[in-house]
Amino acid sequence: MQELLIEGGVPLSGSIRISGSKNAALPILFSSILLDSPAVFHNVPRLRDIATTIALLRVLGRPAAFTDAEGHSVRVENGPLSGEAPYELVRTMRASVLVLGPLLARLGFARVALPGGCAIGARPVEQHTRALEKMGARLELESGYIIGRCASLRGADITFDFPTVGGTEHLIMAAAQAEGETVLRNCAREPEITDLANFLNACGAKISGQGTDTVHIRGVAALRGCDYRVMPDRVEAGTFLAAAAITGGNCDIVGCPVEEITAVVAKLGETGVTVEPHAGGASVRRNGKLRCVDVTTRPYPGFPTDMQAQIMALMTLAEGSGTVEETIFENRFMHVPELVRMGADIRLSGSRAVIRGVPALTGAPVMASDLRAGVSLVLAGLAASGTTRVQRIYHLDRGYERIEHKLEAVGARIRRV
Ligand code: EPZ
Repeated sequence: MQELLIEGGVPLSGSIRISGSKNAALPILFSSILLDSPAVFHNVPRLRDIATTIALLRVLGRPAAFTDAEGHSVRVENGPLSGEAPYELVRTMRASVLVLGPLLARLGFARVALPGGCAIGARPVEQHTRALEKMGARLELESGYIIGRCASLRGADITFDFPTVGGTEHLIMAAAQAEGETVLRNCAREPEITDLANFLNACGAKISGQGTDTVHIRGVAALRGCDYRVMPDRVEAGTFLAAAAITGGNCDIVGCPVEEITAVVAKLGETGVTVEPHAGGASVRRNGKLRCVDVTTRPYPGFPTDMQAQIMALMTLAEGSGTVEETIFENRFMHVPELVRMGADIRLSGSRAVIRGVPALTGAPVMASDLRAGVSLVLAGLAASGTTRVQRIYHLDRGYERIEHKLEAVGARIRRV
């Protein structure tokens, strides 16, 4: 098993380039199931989850591949579709469930393994399946697979119980080729949803309202592939803002989409971190000692749950005490016991963590449990005295492209062993 070895204590300085967004690229790649002709996607990050998505698209009859060994462009060919999404691929990445709606829209049949839970929660998909049934799909669960059938998907007026990111993306894709009008209400408003809708509109879809809580989709018969550039990864950007802050560094984050992480920038400002937007991204530096703050995760445009572990790591070394309230996932504090092993003072009660700043953290062997918990341990290791060994870094490779190279380039003493 690979590990990351980090010698802490170096203030990061220099520039870090942000990769394309994992959480935009995944649904956008899956939406190529709906297309009648090839498409080429640019700024696609080279991540494990992207490799999984490419493998699944191949199995489904959409041969996909990076156009060259180093680049970030993925070409997806067209071809006869299969409706079978096998367990061994779906279980490694729960976003794979998003293929269900597009397969039903195109084939009228799908057999998709029910995605398992993961470290951060049970991750049920009833918002997705109930909405697809309202559009005329007949779904049943059979030995761990969702079997879906429909003559054709029909437009419907659907209200989600809460703003689900995946549910909103899933139903936008299904409705894009359904018959008639679909209205989705109480939608999530994340920028990745807007990126997906913009791509589909570029292919001839008729979607409006993306980025608001009500999205209108008029089904069309055909969608033609096109060239599309995926948006930058706002969570990766927020993570590197926190990395510069926790090490007392001064960095330039190239391609940082500041306008899509305003809640993160505002909260970092409260802790004493200055983020200066400029044409190509943003510069970040710390002004003296950091202060603990209170954070509550919320659907977009509130403070993103995907940045919760990272700002908690930052607060472990800040003055005073603060709280982190996690309202989106039921078990997203797996990083806490590992940070405590490094000397952090964090107390949990239910969905709330109380953090009291400590003067220093000490390096230790720690274990990543999921993508963002893992990266919060890297952040802590960058600031801790001594050596930190982060284990199970395959979690990190799901969502951070070449993280040790990007950090090493701005001075971090970090290497993969
Ligand atoms: C997306 O997950 C992201 N994943 C997550 O990022 C992100 O944390 C999450 O949105 C919230 O912003 C991708 O985009 C691939 P939800 P998703 O549907 O779509 C529950 C990362 O680190 N729920 O908005 O699964 C669900 O269990 C990942 O990059 C139901 O109960 O998020 C969760 O508690 C982690 N029933 C909450 O709602 C449903 O039918 C929010 O889920 C669907 C969701």
